[in-house]
Amino acid sequence: MAAQYTVFGNPIAHSKSPQIHTLFAAQQGATIWYERILVENSPQHFQAAVRQFFAQGGLGANVTVPFKQYAFDLADELSQRAQAAGAVNTLILLPENRIRGDNTDGVGLVHDIQHNLTFSLQNKKVLIIGAGGATRGVILPIAEQNPASITVANRTHSKAIELAKQFGIQAAEFADLQQYDIIINATSSGLQGDVPDVPARVFAGCQLAYDMLYAAQPTPFMQFAQQNGAAQTADGLGMLVCQAAYAFELWRDFVPETASVIAQMRENMN
Ligand code: ATR
Repeated sequence: MAAQYTVFGNPIAHSKSPQIHTLFAAQQGATIWYERILVENSPQHFQAAVRQFFAQGGLGANVTVPFKQYAFDLADELSQRAQAAGAVNTLILLPENRIRGDNTDGVGLVHDIQHNLTFSLQNKKVLIIGAGGATRGVILPIAEQNPASITVANRTHSKAIELAKQFGIQAAEFADLQQYDIIINATSSGLQGDVPDVPARVFAGCQLAYDMLYAAQPTPFMQFAQQNGAAQTADGLGMLVCQAAYAFELWRDFVPETASVIAQMRENMN
């Protein structure tokens, strides 16, 4: 029987993870079985679904909204980056039915920026907009690339201050933002067709404006950034594929090539 993997989420019907992991498996010359599991939104339902999946032969799982913190609570052991993120997006079965929790979101973002988009983060002034789970998940992997600075700005400023204290980075009010080499939108504003209320001048010297959301068309944030001087924009499809690639490696000890998979997924979206 083919090795079994899954993604837990709610909603989950439109998850691209099965397609992505099937493409990775093909690179490895393997066939895997990868399903989506819709779970009712409670810690108890999540825990029961995960335990059942692994008891029935599952080897690894991805975890998406809204379960990343439940997965953090459930894991028997945690990677350092999952601890820093306070959230888990990848579960790995260990001997004796122990479950390890990791978080590949941040390294996925960094890989997409540095390898696929070929922007180095080293010595760059980086701005992250948003102070929710998405931001928390990426700060440590970005910091590991030795940027000149990391600034976090959020509509609710107090949350930015809290994150800045925890991670030893800067916090700034939207109105006080200066200019940055790389600007990352980690808010969910695009889901409402909105753009964070940052001053347009912030994008003047920006080399790369990156939206963690992805869509068939440029997102509202990408459009706003480009109109106001960002030299290049990107959506989060590459991050999605790269976080999956790190999960695949953790499960199967094989490093998938991501650029061709991103291109294939992009084609499927159009
Ligand atoms: P996630 O896990 O995706 O980060 P979250 O923890 O709910 O989700 O955080 C959502 C983030 O998007 C927050 O930073 C939120 O700002 P607030 O803390 O002020 O709520 C931000 N956000 C959502 N909609 C926004 C909008 N229309 N404009 C600006 N920021 C927005």
